[in-house]
Amino acid sequence: MLRISTLLLIGIALFVFGCSPENTEKEWVLESPSATLSLSFMLSQNGEPTYLLTKDDQLVLDTSLMGGFTFRDQPALATNLTVTGTNTRSFDEDWVMPWGEQDTVANTYNELTVNLEENEAPNRQYDIVFRLYDDGIGFRYEFPDQDRMDEVVIMDEETHFTLTGDHTTWWIPGDWDIYEHLYNTTRFTEIDATSKRDHPNLAQTYIPENAVNTPVTMRTDDGLHLSFHEAALYDYAGMTLKVDTSKMQWVSELVGAPDSSKVTTQVPFVTPWRAVQVSEQAGDLIESKLIVNLNEPSKIDDISWFEPTKYMGIWWEMHLGKSSWDMASGKHGATTGNAKRYIDFCADNDIGALLVEGWNTGWERWIGFPDREGVFDFVTPYSDYDIQEVVRYGKEKGVDIIMHHETSAAPRTYDQQLDTAFALCQELGIHAVKTGYVGPIIPEGERHHGQWMVNHYQRVLETAARHQVAVNAHEPIKATGKRRTWPNAIAREGVRGQEFNAWSVDMNPPEHTVILPFTRMLGGPIDFTPGIFNIKFDQYQPDNQVNTTLAKQLALYVLLYSPVQMAADLPEHYERQPAFQFIRDVAVDWQRTEVLNGEVGDYLTIARKERDGERWFLGSATDENARSFTVALDFLDPGVTYQARIYSDGPDAHWDDNPLPVLFKMQTVDQSTELELDLAPGGGTAITFEPVE
Ligand code: NOJ
Ligand code: CA
Repeated sequence: MLRISTLLLIGIALFVFGCSPENTEKEWVLESPSATLSLSFMLSQNGEPTYLLTKDDQLVLDTSLMGGFTFRDQPALATNLTVTGTNTRSFDEDWVMPWGEQDTVANTYNELTVNLEENEAPNRQYDIVFRLYDDGIGFRYEFPDQDRMDEVVIMDEETHFTLTGDHTTWWIPGDWDIYEHLYNTTRFTEIDATSKRDHPNLAQTYIPENAVNTPVTMRTDDGLHLSFHEAALYDYAGMTLKVDTSKMQWVSELVGAPDSSKVTTQVPFVTPWRAVQVSEQAGDLIESKLIVNLNEPSKIDDISWFEPTKYMGIWWEMHLGKSSWDMASGKHGATTGNAKRYIDFCADNDIGALLVEGWNTGWERWIGFPDREGVFDFVTPYSDYDIQEVVRYGKEKGVDIIMHHETSAAPRTYDQQLDTAFALCQELGIHAVKTGYVGPIIPEGERHHGQWMVNHYQRVLETAARHQVAVNAHEPIKATGKRRTWPNAIAREGVRGQEFNAWSVDMNPPEHTVILPFTRMLGGPIDFTPGIFNIKFDQYQPDNQVNTTLAKQLALYVLLYSPVQMAADLPEHYERQPAFQFIRDVAVDWQRTEVLNGEVGDYLTIARKERDGERWFLGSATDENARSFTVALDFLDPGVTYQARIYSDGPDAHWDDNPLPVLFKMQTVDQSTELELDLAPGGGTAITFEPVE
């Protein structure tokens, strides 16, 4: 349903304090639909655009400069601007998620467009568009078609976010290649991202200076939560945020191209939205749909060919070292026989799909090889893998195959084969691919998060869509809500996933998965790959382990949203495990999501109702501290009695000392029930609520 009321000026006030020719004393004020947030826009004495943001009359962002652009071969566009016009409108719609955390999303905002022009020749023009929601703000720069500008090479965009205090910050370094870093919790002034260079498992990624990647989340001393990110990143470089402690502000820093420019484009163009989520409760960040709302409606008319699913993979066994991707290793994982073994297991356990990695030729020369162009072939299977037969067998058993394309960060080789590769998927009836970009991008100097790669990832998405294939990208560009416009962008990595537990010198600590939903996941779904039951796997990697209890692995299916949710462990590790019943049961597509409690880095409880049924599921997890909560089940549907199947940490469970015990309990409950949840250190609880006839 679309309810547009253009130029409905309710809640939008325009205050004019003076009328100097440069407009430097005027202030334009925009309020959010229920007037909780308020934005003011002004020009500084030098004619520079500035804004500030308040919530309920409290300052959230102090006066912040915006829109400073420096270019190659033309003067900067930063000062000496005048406002030549403004425009306001209100917008209100409900849109349907084809798959997601909820079925319908309300998209309600007030918008202010400010038209700017240089006071002197060449009198270049651009607009700043603000969208103010009750849960945050988005703004972007729009360059209209004009004689004064044609091709532009942006050397940098300077957007400031001026903080009101030294907030607690959950951050990862502003690496230009990879987001697979552990989150750090420090005050803003204590951020030291540069010290995170040279991680042994992230060799050759590039961390230029003291900057962070987004989403970066903060909490003020008054308990207000802020998260800074960007939305709708198209044909532009990714944005990191530099730390400026002298002025207590974030300053945007775009990811560079090999020639040290940032963006090459042509007017007219628009930048991505710079977005700030603002909420009282940490959990409201998760319920907010600001980032997807700042994206355009779907460009794929019919996405019914993609169905959310649980999946398994010939995958964890490679990360454990039980098998390998390359056939020459003598322990090839992707054989026809092994694939059939997994398919049988999936079919027996209601798991809809199987990912097969290492099926195609080229794995002898991927990671660590400097010359990786022309090595991977995305249509030729190894001789011990009969792809047609595996797909046929899967179909017979009701299990779809998920294609795998590891590019080894040689995107030009991949580009050349894109059409044939996706045509093969279509011919085989394969509707999902996992892509990968391990290693430094070829050619040298190009970054995973730069403009060229942003465009490459988009090209892959669009080519895939033409062949009815959905994409789960690893080593991706960050999620910026594009899944609304391109709903075949189903999930991505862009996170330090489960795999680090198998081989990294530092494994994910217990707090990791209670930071992610409040940070990385505000961008969109992650392919985290939960469900490791053999927590210590000493047989394979004695120095590594998963730092959670087994019950917490179950809770992750509810907490870490993705429309493709892996049961990541080996089939043999699920045999004779009663707790596996939860993974069999849990849904992957939702009509409602309710965050019941949560603090960033401490704990989180979420309840979700399945899309095509009446069951509810609950997941709750804690960091390294044991916790007990009383949870009111008032989210359950009225008048319905449910059987709750509760999987919680067993007596004396502990993420390190005793991770395996799971206590299983059944209880009849309804909307008026209050449940006591007891979480062990590094533990969790998972519950299925099934209506009783
Ligand atoms: C890195 C991915 O994150 C991982 O999941 C995959 O198994 C390897 N690349 C190989 O493609
Ligand atoms: Ca990875």
